[in-house]
Amino acid sequence: MKIAVVGTGYVGLVTGTCFAETGNTVTCVDIDQEKVKKLQNGKITIYEPGLEQLFERNIKQERLFFTTNLAEGIKDAKIIFLALPTPPGEDGSADLKYILKVASDLGPILSDYTVIIDKSTVPVGTADKVRDRIAANAKVEFDVVSNPEFLREGVAVEDFMKPDRVVIGTNSPRARKIMEALYAPYVRQGNPIIFMDERSAELTKYAANSFLATKITFMNEIANLCELVGADVDSVRRGVGTDSRIGKRFLFPGIGYGGSCFPKDVQALAKSASDVKYDFRILNAVMDVNEDQKTRLIERIKTHFKGNLKGKTIAFWGLSFKPHTDDIREAPSLYNIEALLSEGVTIRAHDPEAIENVKRIVGDKIGYFDTPYDAAEGADAIFIATEWPEFRTPDFEKLSGLLKSKVIFDGRNLYDLSNMKELGYTYFSIGREVING
Ligand code: UDX
Repeated sequence: MKIAVVGTGYVGLVTGTCFAETGNTVTCVDIDQEKVKKLQNGKITIYEPGLEQLFERNIKQERLFFTTNLAEGIKDAKIIFLALPTPPGEDGSADLKYILKVASDLGPILSDYTVIIDKSTVPVGTADKVRDRIAANAKVEFDVVSNPEFLREGVAVEDFMKPDRVVIGTNSPRARKIMEALYAPYVRQGNPIIFMDERSAELTKYAANSFLATKITFMNEIANLCELVGADVDSVRRGVGTDSRIGKRFLFPGIGYGGSCFPKDVQALAKSASDVKYDFRILNAVMDVNEDQKTRLIERIKTHFKGNLKGKTIAFWGLSFKPHTDDIREAPSLYNIEALLSEGVTIRAHDPEAIENVKRIVGDKIGYFDTPYDAAEGADAIFIATEWPEFRTPDFEKLSGLLKSKVIFDGRNLYDLSNMKELGYTYFSIGREVING
């Protein structure tokens, strides 16, 4: 099939590349000339495990193309995906200006029946708005379908190639048939394509992300309570997670959820609800708790250093909002860095992928180091913000020789408590006993 993907961000690029991988011819369209030039020259613009190989292969096989010209990009395309940003506006609602602009542009240039698909996370009712915009100038028949993405950064390719499910919102039998054929190679293992109306599909995406954010936040509150009553959140997590109704995943407490989706989607769903005079109380509480959770460890750092952080040096491990990505959007690390800097702390940061992105925002206010050990040199403590695998089993003996004092503030619960006790580290984590405190 011939497919166009408008927008070459994380979602667009993964979507385009993965559709090319199963033999479709895909043209990706973006208004960013520099980005398109890079992509045309075979240079990938994001870091996503496994993507580069697919990207290079499909360019070579002449199944994956890039252009800044919308009319050229959609020529002969039977299917057009809209994978455009929907940033939160001032009031928290998703801003649809990019999507609606492209919808308006599409109307006059469609030359045959086309399925136009909303891939971006968009509020309920967006498909109708897109349809109206296109219809205003369209000379041919078309359908607008909602097909939300559920890709996790870091495993996006795997999520795309083997999705738990594909959600497709359309009432058009013609569009349904095309979507069924398009996704057939990806659901061969028997995972379902769930068809529904457009509004339900749009809401499904928000409901899924908001539910997961709530699940994490609930565990964060349980962890906070554990600290106060002397319980261990790891035990509680295992105890509840083995109930198949609850499930083991997304129960890890930490320093709050971040990223480009959860914060934005929870906020947007709460706003959509309030727009129709529904007070979504759980979501308001989730946002509140998450805000506090992000910098929860700062209070412990202050108490440990007797209220005076001025002149202290902290080795800061992990900057991306989660491992296996260079994405720092809404990363808890940034909030902690800001809080530590305002207390007069010197920060020596290390991250395997995200340093360049952080440099663009934080600049030379902090130091950047190639290895976790370099960052630890002469530091009064280590702060762990992201659970990169390389932090899981460091050489503690080597670290002991580098650190000024053996203190770790761990926002991701990476280490075994008895091990820390044995090694003589002062160890603070989330929802667990303080070791040698
Ligand atoms: C999420 C959804 O998982 C995905 O389906 C959707 O399409 C986009 O948003 P992503 O933003 O890539 O994906 O990250 P995810 O792995 O879901 O993690 C989100 C945040 O939750 C991260 O900050 C992570 O650290 C945090 N998290 C996750 C926890 O704190 N505890 C957990 O147990 C799981």
